[in-house]
Amino acid sequence: MDAPTTTSSADDTSGEGGGWFTPRKPPKRQEDGEPQQSGAEGPEAAEGRRLASIRPLGRSGSAALATEPSEGRIPAAREASEPTDEVTHARVAPAEARPEAQSETRPAAQPETRSPDAVLVQRTMAEIGPDSDKVTSYFYALLFTRHPDLRALFPAAMDTQRDRLLKALLTAAEHIDNTDVLVSYLKNLGRGHRKYGTQPEHYPAVGEALIGSLSRYASSVWDEETEAAWVRTYTKISQVMIDAAAEDELRAPAWWFAEVVAHDLRTPDIAIVTVRPDQPYPFLAGQYTSLETPWWPRIWRHYSFASAPRSDGLLSFHVKAVPAGWVSNSLVHRARPGDVLRLGPPGGSMTVDHTTDSGLLCLGGGTGIAPIKALVEDVAEHGRRRPVEVFYGARTDHDLYDIDTMLRLQQTHPWLAVRPVVDQRAQLPDAVREYGPWNEYDAYLSGPPGMIRSGVDALREVGIPVGRIRHDSVEELVAAGS
Ligand SMILES: Cc1cc2nc3c(=O)[nH]c(=O)nc-3n(C[C@H](O)[C@H](O)[C@H](O)COP(=O)(O)OP(=O)(O)OC[C@H]3O[C@@H](n4cnc5c(N)ncnc54)[C@H](O)[C@@H]3O)c2cc1C
Ligand code: HEM
Repeated sequence: MDAPTTTSSADDTSGEGGGWFTPRKPPKRQEDGEPQQSGAEGPEAAEGRRLASIRPLGRSGSAALATEPSEGRIPAAREASEPTDEVTHARVAPAEARPEAQSETRPAAQPETRSPDAVLVQRTMAEIGPDSDKVTSYFYALLFTRHPDLRALFPAAMDTQRDRLLKALLTAAEHIDNTDVLVSYLKNLGRGHRKYGTQPEHYPAVGEALIGSLSRYASSVWDEETEAAWVRTYTKISQVMIDAAAEDELRAPAWWFAEVVAHDLRTPDIAIVTVRPDQPYPFLAGQYTSLETPWWPRIWRHYSFASAPRSDGLLSFHVKAVPAGWVSNSLVHRARPGDVLRLGPPGGSMTVDHTTDSGLLCLGGGTGIAPIKALVEDVAEHGRRRPVEVFYGARTDHDLYDIDTMLRLQQTHPWLAVRPVVDQRAQLPDAVREYGPWNEYDAYLSGPPGMIRSGVDALREVGIPVGRIRHDSVEELVAAGS
């Protein structure tokens, strides 16, 4: 279920289509001084078409993925619909299962027979595969030339992570038949989009840009039937996101302000940053948030909570400054008490299942120890004596910046074992293989993508079923370069 890899930048300016598009004027140059998208090649001049059929869809999307829309239209502004499920804001994560995260540990759950729309969507995907970078450039160029007002929602510089939106959209479309997984993923995404200022009426604009770019780069397989399949698919996807955002609006802010109250530089490049949110921030141990600093507006990065929820409401993060990293360097080297950050809603499904007594096998690499520490605190607070085995990996002894805390926890809790593993002497997965047996354990992994991948392999080798292995999305970590 890999989304297309990006290999080159866009330079193609040709492309025709027909059917549902009407001619439009050539694009005007943007006047707001925002940098041009790389590869933004004046799409409307080249294409001069527009999806004319996109209209508001006035139906409830509560079961949008389970039912066929009566017409293939991309949804626009809809009033907040009735609540769609019982999931509370604080409990989004256990139900959450990103399609791409799932693919890291097991093959995508493909239904025996794919729906006709899924077949057409996959045919398009196969066609655009080699051109995915061009598709991305063209998609944003179409979006921003047709809807310049939307540019302000996005970061000034859209480089490393600019393909996340389109990639997620294409991945979701590919998995349109995989209803349960997709719905919880999309609901979370829809809720998360509130912090960007995304409104229901923005969705048709994205849908038009999507179809405009697909029709161009998959021109050899594109026809009316394919277009209708994409319109239906996008309608379903966006309706779930719109409804989830509307529902979330009733009970949670779009973002939280959080004031830095402590800043502890543990190593030259790792800081523990503690913040006080302006209103209660509900989350579960093992989850992460998205965070924006005042120095890089609209640039959001994920950071895991380093503690289980605390009675004083404070939140802490372990941040490692990566070379030339915008947000991480600001947090480590610039942030000081009194600075105010913004936080998005919590996310992630690496949480403890308190309905069982299974042991927890935890692998934390680098700052990946932060959510593992939160999990340990969570188990301690629930008062059940479940065995918890933590393998704490780092490149050097010096990088085990939080080993004292972990060893203190070990002294307090007889059910906890903490084993430091230093890369130069041993690899984390090898160390895990030496101990065990692990068949009565649920596994939790947090750290760099390479560690997660090799960790998952090692855990499967020692017989832990994939359904009992939890970790954050490797794809996102790779995109982050961490
Ligand atoms: C679910 C999740 C949870 C996370 N939790 C944490 C956490 O608790 N603590 C934490 O410190 N980080 C965490 N991260 C990573 C974090 O979100 C950022 O990606 C990281 O801080 C870099 O952001 P930046 O803006 O500083 O760098 P960017 O500006 O995004 O990157 C600048 C350059 O550095 C490269 N780069 C990025 N990361 C690394 C790296 N690790 N090593 C080398 N080069 C890199 C990029 O590819 C890019 O070329 C998490 C990521 C995810 C997806
Ligand atoms: C079905 C439609 C959509 C999907 C699947 C989607 C998916 C995504 C994903 C996966 C991201 C990456 C960050 C994150 O997880 O939040 C993202 C970022 C973003 N999306 Fe969407 N999105 C959709 C529609 C929209 C719409 C309609 C808007 C409003 C114009 C929008 C605006 C943004 C912005 C501003 C960002 C941040 C970009 C960045 O950080 O570089 N998205 N989207």
